[in-house]
Amino acid sequence: MTDDDLTRAADWLRAADRVCVLTGAGVSAESGVPTFRASDGLWEGHRIEDVASPDGFERDPKLVWQFYNARRANARTVEPNPGHLALVALERRWGERFTLVTQNVDGLHRTAGSTNVLEIHGSLHRTRCLGCNRVTDRNIQEDLGDEPACPKCYGQLRPDIVWFGEALPESVWLPSLNAAYGCNVLLVVGTSAVVHPAASLVPIAKRKQPAARVIEVNLTRTEASQMADVGLYGPSGVVLPKLVERLG
Ligand code: APR
Repeated sequence: MTDDDLTRAADWLRAADRVCVLTGAGVSAESGVPTFRASDGLWEGHRIEDVASPDGFERDPKLVWQFYNARRANARTVEPNPGHLALVALERRWGERFTLVTQNVDGLHRTAGSTNVLEIHGSLHRTRCLGCNRVTDRNIQEDLGDEPACPKCYGQLRPDIVWFGEALPESVWLPSLNAAYGCNVLLVVGTSAVVHPAASLVPIAKRKQPAARVIEVNLTRTEASQMADVGLYGPSGVVLPKLVERLG
């Protein structure tokens, strides 16, 4: 990341009326949450389709719950890092004209203090009942076991997570589209930008008129890099605080 790139990014941000941020697993990496795309195609030793698909859940709900209980246990031990906190500072500056769209299910943006957060892939902090459809906040400290049942109707509970092959809930996806469409700057942080429709927020912001400036923050180039006006390559826990500082 050059000093010039940082200055350009800060200049665009300073001039922006509306700001949208899309985050992925990379923003939580420095907190100790593992990212997804290991080179062997496995997700903590499991095939993705076994633990993150409706079919996988139907085949072996206990395995899926063991996997998500392990992720819940990890989420208990982690804390927001300076990258999350820098995004809180940005929200303070823009208020309601700032939207944070996250693919992360760890809840760390909310723990850090971000409030205008759209969790488009769901949350480890919630369950959904397959019987009565009720979504319930479940304290991350709670051990749910591998066959949790709905406290209201005794139906089967599943994690309130969007799995592969499932549609994103409209209640979070429509405001995300609006935020990407309406922003002057889109900050794309710590995502490989390969999972759609989340990744499509980048072309949506870029192809409208007038196009938004896209700032990418990542360790490496990604599928989104070609559409980025500037790439700030480095750990988000270091780059984002520098960007906030440069904003002044
Ligand atoms: N700072 C910035 N970027 C980082 C850091 C860091 N400290 N560490 C890793 N990264 C980057 C990687 O270079 C990579 O581009 O974060 C990205 C993580 O990519 P993925 O593991 O593919 O995560 P993500 O893009 O969030 O995945 C999207 O896929 O499996 C599904 O639903 C799941 O929400 C997830 C979605």
